[in-house]
Amino acid sequence: MKEPFGGGYVFISGATGGIGKAFARVFAVRGDKLFLTGRSADKLAALKSELEREYIKDCGAGENTRILTFPCDLTDEKSVKEMLAFIDGQGVKFSGIINVAGVDIQKPFVAYTPEKLSFQIKVNAESTLYITHALLSRREKGKMRIITISSMSGASPMPYFATYSATKAMLVNFFTALRYELKGQGVNVTTVMPGGVYTRPDVIADIKGQGLWGKLSAKSPRFVAEKSVKASDKNKMKYIPGFFNKFLYFVIKIAPERLVLRFIANRWKKQTKDAF
Ligand SMILES: NC(=O)c1ccc[n+]([C@@H]2O[C@H](COP(=O)([O-])OP(=O)(O)OC[C@H]3O[C@@H](n4cnc5c(N)ncnc54)[C@H](OP(=O)(O)O)[C@@H]3O)[C@@H](O)[C@H]2O)c1
Repeated sequence: MKEPFGGGYVFISGATGGIGKAFARVFAVRGDKLFLTGRSADKLAALKSELEREYIKDCGAGENTRILTFPCDLTDEKSVKEMLAFIDGQGVKFSGIINVAGVDIQKPFVAYTPEKLSFQIKVNAESTLYITHALLSRREKGKMRIITISSMSGASPMPYFATYSATKAMLVNFFTALRYELKGQGVNVTTVMPGGVYTRPDVIADIKGQGLWGKLSAKSPRFVAEKSVKASDKNKMKYIPGFFNKFLYFVIKIAPERLVLRFIANRWKKQTKDAF
């Protein structure tokens, strides 16, 4: 078992989803204390039981306080305030902030309702910054890590996936700048840009629908979580999982933008997806 990064809790948003759960397992194995959140109380309770059953005893640390959970809708100011009050009530301090929560609505911009537009921006971008700000001021003494799950979609503007890709680009820009602001203060800040990840059934179907491209790009949640934590241990600025995605990122950055946009638009206009 690796030594915990710092003495405090590791906060994981989106812990009830595919990638978030994988992070929870990685940190449980490493012996960290966990603070897990997602909207679903049932999924959080199931995850807590699984982690305690599978990992905590094996790690030789079985106190009840090893895993705290709090269901929270990150788009709801009241819900976020309640979570922060719970954190303060428990006297919880953090050594890790793992920003995973996100929603991948995919449709032409004009087809959004104002509610869905606001929802996606709040979950993916606004709440991520808000939570990071709140937890930095609740930092345990010693080192801290921040890992944020952006996406390869943040590497270029994406017609027909424009809002999602803009929120993910915003995360890359923001956390790269924050990393600089926190330089010398013992905080490792890493932004992760995965391609496809085999999580929900609809995402797996999308990846399969992309044929060879999908197969080359996609990774398991476990791969993404384990490698992201290793990148964070080394204090890497950005981590792109898999060789194919690294190559793609390079091509996107050197190819003429109008060609990249045309290519993306042709691929993404065929599909729409909602989220709730
Ligand atoms: N899967 C991919 O191919 C892929 C690729 C690149 C990047 N990503 C990014 O990776 C992250 C996780 O993706 P995933 O595939 O693991 O998705 P997922 O299985 O759908 O999980 C999404 C997580 O976000 C939480 N969430 C959604 N809306 C929320 C809200 N309003 N308040 C609080 N939590 C909320 C969900 O909580 P509940 O389930 O409890 O509601 C869930 O834990 C996302 O940021 C996504 O954009 C995914």
